[in-house]
Amino acid sequence: MDAQPRELRSLADTAALAAEVAPRLRPGGVLLLVGDLGAGKTTFTQALARAYGVTRPVTSPTFTLANAYPLPDGGTLTHFDLYRLATPEGLYDLGLEEALEGGARVVIEWPERAARVLDAEAPHRLTLRLELTPAGTRLATLTEV
Ligand SMILES: Nc1ncnc2c1ncn2[C@@H]1O[C@H](COP(=O)(O)OP(=O)(O)OP(=O)(O)O)[C@@H](O)[C@H]1O
Ligand SMILES: [Mg+2]
Repeated sequence: MDAQPRELRSLADTAALAAEVAPRLRPGGVLLLVGDLGAGKTTFTQALARAYGVTRPVTSPTFTLANAYPLPDGGTLTHFDLYRLATPEGLYDLGLEEALEGGARVVIEWPERAARVLDAEAPHRLTLRLELTPAGTRLATLTEV
């Protein structure tokens, strides 16, 4: 699936992709979600949380910028939304290092807002790009570096 765009036509397609990505995001690992407003980053995070067995509602951390969900395997899924991050270094204040050192699986919306911090703290990561198509579907491309 790497670097091979895949069309998501429905929420079910997003759920299926999330189920494939879930085992690839290891404890202490980072998944960057790149895409425009409304591309489906939060929706993908919700599907990923479901794939890990999270049953409580997963909402966009629009104002808190970070939410953590305990996983049935004893781990944690930490969801950052950096859209409103004032400076890249603000990501440290949100607890990025603690999350990674604690073995959380970390998902980040709007990673562009903290690119230089993420390049330093998470040089190895998965990136999922989501693009809206004129037809109203989404193209998803997963890469790993
Ligand atoms: N695979 C999909 N099929 C159908 N609708 C979808 C899909 N993915 C997302 N949507 C819908 O698109 C809308 C925007 O999705 P979402 O909030 O996940 O985008 P986002 O990338 O997180 O946006 P933002 O940049 O504002 O955080 C929502 O109404 C959501 O239900
Ligand atoms: Mg979002």
